[in-house]
Amino acid sequence: MKLLVIHGPNLNRLGQRETSVYGSETLEQINDAIEALCKTYNFSVEFFQSNSEGDLVDAIHQAEAKHVGGIIINAAAFTHTSIALRDAIASISIPTIEVHLSNIHSREEFRHHSTIAAVCKGQILGFGKKSYLLAVASFAM
Ligand code: DQA
Repeated sequence: MKLLVIHGPNLNRLGQRETSVYGSETLEQINDAIEALCKTYNFSVEFFQSNSEGDLVDAIHQAEAKHVGGIIINAAAFTHTSIALRDAIASISIPTIEVHLSNIHSREEFRHHSTIAAVCKGQILGFGKKSYLLAVASFAM
């Protein structure tokens, strides 16, 4: 089983960015924890981060050709705005889980709506780094 973990805009700034909301761990540290958990399940994992909407769309399209069995996506701010990402996820047949570090429902109102939620298998949010780890675990169940 191969997983693809997609990180959207500004997540490359984790560790420096709004640490009271997102914690002090860097994206690299989060990816290391995801990779370690994947190893215990015998999953291979690939990571992709971009600040550009089109690059994220391309990564989703390319997942099928790469024989990815599951996608975990934190679309970050594009979660709230992007119909292109929604349509990209709908265009593939790979189960996709939406994750967020923070609980988007307890924050500003503009974060309450997700354009991608309806085309994802489920959402895991509000658990910090553990949101990603719980998503990995769900692929093992
Ligand atoms: C986020 C929540 C989004 O609203 C925000 O734009 C992000 C990060 C999260 O992981 O909590 O960049 O997706």
